[in-house]
Formats: sequence, C-alpha cells, structure tokens
Amino acid sequence: MTAAADIIRAKARTPVRMGLVLGSGLGAMADELEGATRFEFGDLPGFPVSGVSGHAGALTLGRLEGIEVAMLSGRKHYYEGGDAAAMRPVLECFKALGAELAFLTNAAGSTRKEIPPGALMAIRDHINFSGRDPLIGVEGDDRFVSMVNAYDDTLRLRLKWWAEEAELELFEGVYAWFSGPSFETPAEIAAIRKLGADAVGMSTAPECIIARHIGLPVVAVSVITNYAAGMTGAALSHDETKSEAAKAEDRFRALIRAFVGSYANG
Ligand code: HPA
Repeated sequence: MTAAADIIRAKARTPVRMGLVLGSGLGAMADELEGATRFEFGDLPGFPVSGVSGHAGALTLGRLEGIEVAMLSGRKHYYEGGDAAAMRPVLECFKALGAELAFLTNAAGSTRKEIPPGALMAIRDHINFSGRDPLIGVEGDDRFVSMVNAYDDTLRLRLKWWAEEAELELFEGVYAWFSGPSFETPAEIAAIRKLGADAVGMSTAPECIIARHIGLPVVAVSVITNYAAGMTGAALSHDETKSEAAKAEDRFRALIRAFVGSYANG
C-alpha cells in the first residue's frame, strides 16, 4: 500500500487493470478516459513533480475500452535531478491500485533509416547506456533483478497482433537509454547503432527496471519523433520532439486503444 494509492482509492474507481505512462507530447490521451478522476502530482505523496514542458504532471483514472486504467501524464526524468529512481512511487502506486502491467511510452530518436519519424516501435529490450541504475541503494537480494524478458514477450506479441488487426504499422527494436538532457552526439549514435540500438531516449529504461523489481510486467512503445543525431545533419530540439509526437498522436492513441480493448477481452 502507498499513501498516494490510499488517497486515490478514496476518490476514484479501483482496482485498475493497467498503469500507463504517457511520454513527451503524448499526455493528452488522458482526456479520453470516461468517468475520469484526475489527481495533480502535488496532491499525491511521493509523486515527482516534473518541470519539463510537454509533461502535465497528473495521474488520471478512468475507463478506456471498457476497463479501468491509470494514466500518467508527465513522468519525471533522471536528468531533472539525478535521481534514477524518481518514478518508483508512481510504479508502486500502479501496483497498489491493482495494475496487472505497466505500459510505458516515450518519444525517441531513431538510429535506423528504415524506422522513420512518425513510426511506432515496440521495445523488445533496452541498453542502459547511462550507467545509472534505479536500484542502487536498495537492500536485499531481490535487488539483483533479472532483466531477461524484461519487456514481456507475450504482451509484446499480443500488442503486435492487435496492432496488425487495427492496421497500424508497428516496428520492433532495442531502446538505448541516454541520461540527457543534452541530445546525443553523432559519434554516440554511430556507436550505439553498432551496439544494437534501434532507438534512443532519456526515459523508460529505469522505469522498466523498477517495474521488474516490484514484479510488474512491462510492455513499452516508442513514438519516433526524429532521426537521431548525425543522421540528417539537422540540429535536434525538444520543440521538434513535441511537434512530431503530436503528429503521430492519432496512431499512438489507436495503438493504445487496440491493446487495451483486446486485453480487456482476454
Ligand atoms: N535522443 C534522445 N531522446 C529523444 C530523442 C533523441 O534523438 N528524440 C526524442 N527523445
């Protein structure tokens, strides 16, 4: 149990079936929830207030495609204060509210010509290129979390079926976590591509590690907002991340709905 979950349970319909984290420029999907109850981060003990534009800082509970979900608009990033575990209270709250899985989403840069801006990519695995770990300082043998199948194969397979049924193109690949907030250099992108990354970003990997630590299965999707540094010669910007995420938003929402709706029907 968490204090935040107690506050939420007193006001909103629970349990929820899943907790979703909406990435940069994607948070508005929470407005689609029916019978919604919205909580500002400041009202939920432990929730990390984020100062990043494009991140609203609210948790909304409500019905989507017939099931109760919790949607987080406005995650906290490692680069905001150097705390890789900043999202732990959120994930623990999802679990305390009854979530059966965490659906993590982000905006990311593509390292592959064949995965263009606007593409949706299911994350198969990650490379923690930041060298940080949200479990540093955690005690007990369960800190040695296995990261095999961290992005649950079965859930991802279902996501792919349901995307296909909804006629949504869905790539699959490896996400590399860079700490940010500076974007990567072209040399870093050339290196990480050789190491096997298909997309790069500044979030999600620590959340996945925390989710695995507390036993929440993870399914994750990147919305590709740009080609990574050095691939086109263009400078990168957070404005571009937000505007390109907005352009992909309809398909992103359709993918989430396809997953949630089919999950609800078993
Ligand atoms: N790099 C890191 N994070 C990102 C990018 C990128 O190219 N695009 C969106 N988020």
